[in-house]
Formats: sequence, structure tokens, C-alpha cells
Amino acid sequence: MPDQAPAQWLSNSLIVSKYREKTPGSEKLARQAADLFPSGLTHDSRYLEPYSLYVDRAQGSHKWDVDGNEYIDYFGGHGALILGHNHPEVTKAVQEQTAKGSHFGASHPLEVRWAELIREMVPSAERVRFTSSGTEATLMGLRLARAFTGRSKMLRFKMHFHGWHDHMTSGMANHFDGSPTAGVIKGVTDSVVLADTNDEAGTRKAIEANPDIAAVIIEPTGASFGRVPVKPSFLNFLRKITKEKGIVLIFDEVVTGFRVSRGGAQAELGVIPDMTSLAKIVAGGLPGGAIVGRKDIMGLLDFAETKAKGVEKIQHPGTYNANPISAAAGIAALTILKTTDANKRANASAEKLRGLLNDAITAENVPWAAYGTYAAFHIFTNPKRRDISPKTFDALATDPEELKGAWSANIAHKVRLGMFVNGVDINAGPGGIMSAVHTDADLEKTAAAFRATLKLLKDEGDLR
Ligand SMILES: Cc1ncc(COP(=O)(O)O)c(C=O)c1O
Repeated sequence: MPDQAPAQWLSNSLIVSKYREKTPGSEKLARQAADLFPSGLTHDSRYLEPYSLYVDRAQGSHKWDVDGNEYIDYFGGHGALILGHNHPEVTKAVQEQTAKGSHFGASHPLEVRWAELIREMVPSAERVRFTSSGTEATLMGLRLARAFTGRSKMLRFKMHFHGWHDHMTSGMANHFDGSPTAGVIKGVTDSVVLADTNDEAGTRKAIEANPDIAAVIIEPTGASFGRVPVKPSFLNFLRKITKEKGIVLIFDEVVTGFRVSRGGAQAELGVIPDMTSLAKIVAGGLPGGAIVGRKDIMGLLDFAETKAKGVEKIQHPGTYNANPISAAAGIAALTILKTTDANKRANASAEKLRGLLNDAITAENVPWAAYGTYAAFHIFTNPKRRDISPKTFDALATDPEELKGAWSANIAHKVRLGMFVNGVDINAGPGGIMSAVHTDADLEKTAAAFRATLKLLKDEGDLR
């Protein structure tokens, strides 16, 4: 099945017909959207054959599609909703702020409290600059690093995602040789050095061969929130070598920030970068991000400091920087995370679910595995049909391309469709992100849905 063209497997699959039967409203909207948006979509990760699900409303850990079907949600607002959908305190803060005003074209008290909370929680955050997205945060992090060091290159790790600006495209899903992706000029990719995660010798060699590296950026728990895991010792290595070579170390904590722990991966793992990019949870589920870090580096955004030093200030406008509604949501969410055990609950639920999914895999005798760290689960669909079992599977010892490769394969679509048919929304990994409000009943139902999906896949001959 994985090698068949969509038309072939779509028309032959019972899972697909069950999905179509259940979601006629989504199919109708998808037909309308097909003419409006490329692929009918507004975000690449929502790509699903035969069509994407259209959601009408959500609450807590659940969401409902336009046909009224209920799903347990593990997309979690792309990782922004650790407190689940519509947490009452976040909703109240947003409603109150919306009534007061959405944009003052001025500084406002909420941005001050928002930044204070970030500084109280994230160890590397000596100073803060708000952006509208994670993409903008990594873009600014890179620019600051270049201006600070006077160097031009950056080193990134293959498959790690840091947003979609020109420096971050090659080597994420393709172009692992560092050649430019469509629309990106070679001059940009020439300034990007790609390295392999966990490869200390290769990374050292790349750094030593390129004395012009301004920044090293990494998703600290691994590409796609640990789908391709990073050894914690590799972070220590990066911290040491970047210090040695005067390189700015940037942790991209857009997903891990306020999730792995209240202070992110850096607080949990005890490795403090120079700069950190934040988004998603930082804005409580509304649009927003921030680049935070060392006072001296952030000083390049400061009018007086740059003047005093006689260096050029980095420009940073942005209509929605620190907008009051995102600030209100961010303050509410971060306050809850700072004062409760929400992070621990999300992590514990994910660990429990990984165990339950592996029980289902074992019961169905399928050579797959559920794995992951912190509040995530990833399903390894074993594209090379290796002889594995959940008990012995070691993601760190597995080829990253095999770990990451499923998202584009037909099998990932079918797993998602099967889970939809059984009342669960997971991401295209396939995998999912946990919230602090998923219940034990949710986890049990999810494992049952997964087992039912495995049975459907077996019936269709996909797991032979
Ligand atoms: C690790 C990481 N960095 C950066 C980004 C980009 O953030 P945004 O989608 O807000 O631009 C994402 C988005 O998923 C991400 O996961």
C-alpha cells in the first residue's frame, strides 16, 4: 500500500469509505476550498487524503467536526494548547481584553506583566522581544546572532523545524544536501551548514571547517518534538563548543517552551542557551511569539545601547508584536503553568498513553512502536519492516529518516483516517501532543481506537 498512488488506495480502502460516510460536511467544504486555496489548505500539516477534517468547535481535550462527530484531540492547536481548548481563565482574559481594545498602537501594561512572567520562568530570558510567530522569533534570533558576532553563517540540524523563513527550509523535509528549496536563493543556503543530530564529531568538524558560524540552532528535545530525539549529552556538547568558539547557541523552544517543564527544555535539562525562540504556549493559544536571551545580544535592539556602543541598531517593527489580546491570553496561560502542576500532568498522561499504545501494538502483534519523551507520542510505522517490538525499540538507535519518513507516506494518512473513524484526531507524524486536561478515560479510548485502527489496517493488508 505505501507505494500506491492516492487514487488507487483511496478507492480500495474500507477505512476511506468509513471516513467519507462519517464526514460528508467536511467533504463538501473541502470541495469548496479546493478552488480557493492551494491543495484546499491553509497549513501544510493539515494535508490529508482524501480530504482534511473541518472542525466546528472544541472544548477541553475534545473537538467536534462540522457533522457533529466528537474527537479526542491530540493536535492541541499545533502544540499551543497545553491547557486544552478554551481554558476558562484564558477565555475570560481574552474576552475582557477584547472588550477593552485589541490594538492600542502604544505600549500597554499587559506586555510588561507578560515579559515578567517569561523572565521568571525561562532561565535564558534576560530580555524579551515579542513577535507574532515562531518563524519571526527564529528569524530575529539569527539576525541578532549575526550582528552580535559579525559572522554570517548558521548551523542547523537536519529535519529540525524552525519555521518557514528562507534560512530554515533546506534540510527540514528534503534538500538534505543543503541545496536551496524552490524560491530560496543559493546565497541564503550557502550560509546554512547542515549537521546530523547527536553527531558530535561531525558537528565539531562542521564548526571547525566554518569559522564564520554566528549561531547554532536546535530543537532541544529533537526534531518534531522528539520524533528524532536528541541525546541530552549532545546539548551539553553544543553548549561547550559554542562557548569555546564564540557562537550564539539558540534553543528553539517554540514547542518545548512551557511544555517540557514550566521553564521549558532548558530548565528541565539544565543547559542554558544564549537565546531562545518561543511561540505557541507563550501566547496562550493566540498568535504570538518571542525571542528572548542574553542582555548584551538583545541590546542590539536597544536605541540607547546601540548608540552608546556606536553600532547599528537592528530594526524591529511588527504590527502585532505584543498585541494586547495575545498578551492577555499569554499571561493567563503562563500564570497557570507557573502555579500548578499542569506540565507534570501532561507529561505523565503522555507516558501513560505511550504504554497503552504499545500494549495495543503488542496485542495485535504488529512490528510498530509508540515512543517519545515529555508530553508527546510518536508512532514508528517501521517503513523498512525491521524486526522490532515496542519493548526493545530504541528511537536513538534508529535511522532518523525512518523515524521521520512516515508523515509523507500513505500509511500515515491511513492511520489518521482510521483514528478519525474511531473518534480520535492525531497529527500526521503520526503522533500527537498531550494536554494537561486529557483524562484517563480519554487515554483508554485512544488506545482502543488505535487497536481498532490496527485491525482495520490488517484487514486491508497494510500490515503484512
Ligand atoms: C520548533 C518550531 N520552531 C518554529 C516553529 C514556527 O512557529 P510558527 O508556526 O509560529 O511560525 C514551529 C512551528 O510549529 C516549531 O515547531
